[in-house]
Amino acid sequence: MQQTGSVPNNIILIGFMGCGKSTVGRELHRLLGYPLVDMDALIEERAGMPITRIFADDGETKFRDMESSLLEELAQARQSGHIIATGGGVVGRPQNRELLQRLGYVVWLCAPASVILNRTRNSGERPLLLTEDPATRIHKLLAEREPWYAETAHLKVDTAGLSSREIAAGILESARYFFADPTQCKQR
Ligand code: S3P
Repeated sequence: MQQTGSVPNNIILIGFMGCGKSTVGRELHRLLGYPLVDMDALIEERAGMPITRIFADDGETKFRDMESSLLEELAQARQSGHIIATGGGVVGRPQNRELLQRLGYVVWLCAPASVILNRTRNSGERPLLLTEDPATRIHKLLAEREPWYAETAHLKVDTAGLSSREIAAGILESARYFFADPTQCKQR
């Protein structure tokens, strides 16, 4: 994909848990051949333990610090031509939102709360949803985070009812327009 100006031609996927960031990231990787950086997977690999253990042993703040420093590292590397799949809470810190925008084309994958609940129901891998009432937790976190996703993203895609192939194809087409003229910025 052509890169113009100062925006690196990375595609960054943000959005709530269960909205398909990793799956769509893999599909974009397949279509474009760009390396995929899955931030959660990389954090787990470096820590040598799953995210649930990081949360349980060291607390959420420790995980957020690891997430923020990985993002900083990615921004400092000044690489182009990567797909970056983030964790759902990465937008919580203002400096992260700024870094995400500087990294490239930011795509917000979203879905209704009911779809998120269904998709995450049996995973057991998301510490924030390991609660007696995941539906209430999802609504609360969504309300808090939606303004952050909206503020950060160049494009919003509702993933409900679409295959990852359809979503990836749509993102690619929009990304081509964006990289041809990044100044047009918001497409939503
Ligand atoms: C989190 C989302 C998770 C993971 C961690 C925290 C969140 O990633 O980073 O459990 O705060 O929403 P996914 O969005 O890939 O599930």
